[in-house]
Amino acid sequence: LIPSHASSSDGFLQCLSESIPSQLVFTQSSPSFTSVLVSSIRNPRFFTPRTVRPQWIVTPTNASHVQAAVVCGRRHGVRLRVRSGGHDYEGLSYRSQRAEVFAVVDLSNLRAVRVDEQSSTAWVESGATLGELYYAVSQSSNQLAFPAGLCPTIGVGGHFSGGGFGTLLRKYGLAIDNVLDAVLVDAKARLLDKNAMGTDVFWAIRGGSGESFGIVLSWQVRLVPVPPTVTAFTIPVAVDEGAMDVVTRWQEVAPALPEDLFIRAVLQNQTATFESLYMGTCDAPLPVMRSRFPELGMKMNRTTCQETTWIDTVPYFFPGSGATVDVYILNRTTSLNTYTKMTSDYVRQAIPREAWGSIFAWLAEPDAGLMILDPYGAAIASVPESATPFPHRAGVLYNIQYVSYWFAAEDGAAHIKWIRDFYAFMEPYVTSNPREAYFNYRDLNLGENVVVGNVSSYEAGKVWGEKYFRDNYKRLAIAKGEIDPDDYFRNEQSIPPLVPGK
Ligand code: FDA
Repeated sequence: LIPSHASSSDGFLQCLSESIPSQLVFTQSSPSFTSVLVSSIRNPRFFTPRTVRPQWIVTPTNASHVQAAVVCGRRHGVRLRVRSGGHDYEGLSYRSQRAEVFAVVDLSNLRAVRVDEQSSTAWVESGATLGELYYAVSQSSNQLAFPAGLCPTIGVGGHFSGGGFGTLLRKYGLAIDNVLDAVLVDAKARLLDKNAMGTDVFWAIRGGSGESFGIVLSWQVRLVPVPPTVTAFTIPVAVDEGAMDVVTRWQEVAPALPEDLFIRAVLQNQTATFESLYMGTCDAPLPVMRSRFPELGMKMNRTTCQETTWIDTVPYFFPGSGATVDVYILNRTTSLNTYTKMTSDYVRQAIPREAWGSIFAWLAEPDAGLMILDPYGAAIASVPESATPFPHRAGVLYNIQYVSYWFAAEDGAAHIKWIRDFYAFMEPYVTSNPREAYFNYRDLNLGENVVVGNVSSYEAGKVWGEKYFRDNYKRLAIAKGEIDPDDYFRNEQSIPPLVPGK
């Protein structure tokens, strides 16, 4: 499949030119190739002279361009990677870990959002950002919202392909729990809606890595009601003010609180910061906090509360610059100044207080990053484990995201060592067999595909696949076998095809 000589590459370009206007196709020699490539790269680790970059970037403006890219790619032996918002933690939407000739289909021109207030639904194209989706919904009604991630520049395409959660997760679950329909271009270049793609594939693309199954062009979502006034509050507690006791207690209280109350914890240096959202005015959470979670509730009063609209909580939970909330939420430009390495865990049994002492010691190290603890329970736990590919449901207390970051390329090794060592230290305290991980917090250290006979190996993929998907990994592989048995759409952590009897 990989072109070994220039002529098949020329053939690919020639083929594209028959169906796609030339200004939408960029080769490495195009003057704007680099600016198009870098336009949504978040992580400078994957924008270096050594990065394996695409040979071509295609920026479709309609579905037929995407179909043409697949037809030409297959005909001329060029693989495609699809990019929506470019936030992949390992950059797999625009770079390859190994030498490979490939093209990127960048969906940033396909970003329309059509809200139907009457039915409380919307169609959103994959290239839209979460900010664009949130904004369009808020423009139609300040009492409608959509439950998805915190950072407004995340792309809908990648985010929905891996689950997607944010401050509404306890009330309304994941983004994918609220997807009603989708339009997919598959490896045969067919344009398929929910009915045409079939139950297994529609199940699979909602959280099971869209990129393994094709290119998802758009999604129909159910919008959710929010009150006109919600309350945000943040309470920092330092270790010498009792952070260890509060975090120990938080582990069991936060996932069991009423679904209207979301309290996450960000642990950095020697402080745990509790960031909260309540679906209503401040009067209600005050007594709940005092009775159910006095360790934190007693540190709270009316002045702690910020009553606002749901859309205005976006910059509250993910601060950034912008003259107004609208400008900030709609801004698509990303900066290349922060290098990152992330990974994740799930906790099903509360970590004992003594261990928190050691954890805070890890956070005091010179190259330390931070930890984000997102409480589950309520709506996210009420969905059966096999209803979507995302298996971290009932019984999960919270998700841990480990964040390591630095500002100069040469500092990377020390920070990456810190996160790897800390992850190893955490093993006894988190889930095991498999040690669960969140697919949207992608980490190639969990394992990579092994290609055998030009097809990714199902057996080898278990090492990372069961961490992200538990028992759903097998059903994902069967769905992949149904729609793309040749494994055309693949990357280092795509679902391998499992074809019964083969
Ligand atoms: P990108 O375009 O890089 O795609 C990611 C993956 O999906 C790639 O493998 C790509 O090929 C595939 N893909 C993209 N579009 C596709 C399409 N249309 N069809 C098929 N496959 C497609 N997560 C979360 O749940 N809650 C949160 O609050 C946050 N917060 C957060 C903040 C920041 C700063 C970052 C960088 C990331 C997060 N995330 C997150 C993780 C985020 O959900 C995850 O990285 C998403 O996959 C990003 O989607 P993009 O479209 O931006 O990525």
